[in-house]
Amino acid sequence: MQNRNLLSLPDACTLRKATSGDIWSIRYLVFSAKLDPTQIYWQQFWVIECDGKIVACGQLRNFPNAQELGSLVVASAWRGRGLGSFLTQHLISCATQPLYLECLGQRLAKFYRRFGFVPIGFQELPRSLQSKFRWSELGRKLHIVPVVFMQKVDG
Ligand SMILES: CC(C)(COP(=O)(O)OP(=O)(O)OC[C@H]1O[C@@H](n2cnc3c(N)ncnc32)[C@H](O)[C@@H]1OP(=O)(O)O)[C@@H](O)C(=O)NCCC(=O)NCCS
Repeated sequence: MQNRNLLSLPDACTLRKATSGDIWSIRYLVFSAKLDPTQIYWQQFWVIECDGKIVACGQLRNFPNAQELGSLVVASAWRGRGLGSFLTQHLISCATQPLYLECLGQRLAKFYRRFGFVPIGFQELPRSLQSKFRWSELGRKLHIVPVVFMQKVDG
């Protein structure tokens, strides 16, 4: 396992809170990655800007007594350089409630495991997230989507 405390960004890149002017870049990233299009409010997002361009985004969605790490996207030309890991670790550090996510497939589940997320069953999700994820759960049960629900555990 890589030491995630040593994560850093390439020189040309900065992490910052999103502003209203970033909304179309955020929408474009989320849309092009075919991710959940709900709750795309710039106020909830963090972005990574490289050479004046938004190349990554991610957010914490708020639910009663829970948060969801979502909308994590790195533009394809910038993948594999640690941006996604940096942003994930930052979002985790911003979380103020028990943190959950849903992802598709074992490769992504392995990615999130590195940051202390563990797979959980649908029944272990808080009620607020069960109602959000009920269609994903149906798709999983019917073997249509390989969705994995995960919870951040301490440590
Ligand atoms: C997942 C994602 C955010 C990772 O960003 P990144 O900047 O490339 O990640 P890092 O460079 O920090 O780390 C690389 C790791 O990301 C994961 N990863 C990279 N590309 C991936 C892909 N297409 N699918 C799943 N995981 C991927 C791998 O675990 C990889 O580690 P490995 O090289 O040991 O296999 C990026 O691939 C992406 O935007 N994918 C499309 C959108 C998406 O699926 N988001 C997650 C929603 S739950």
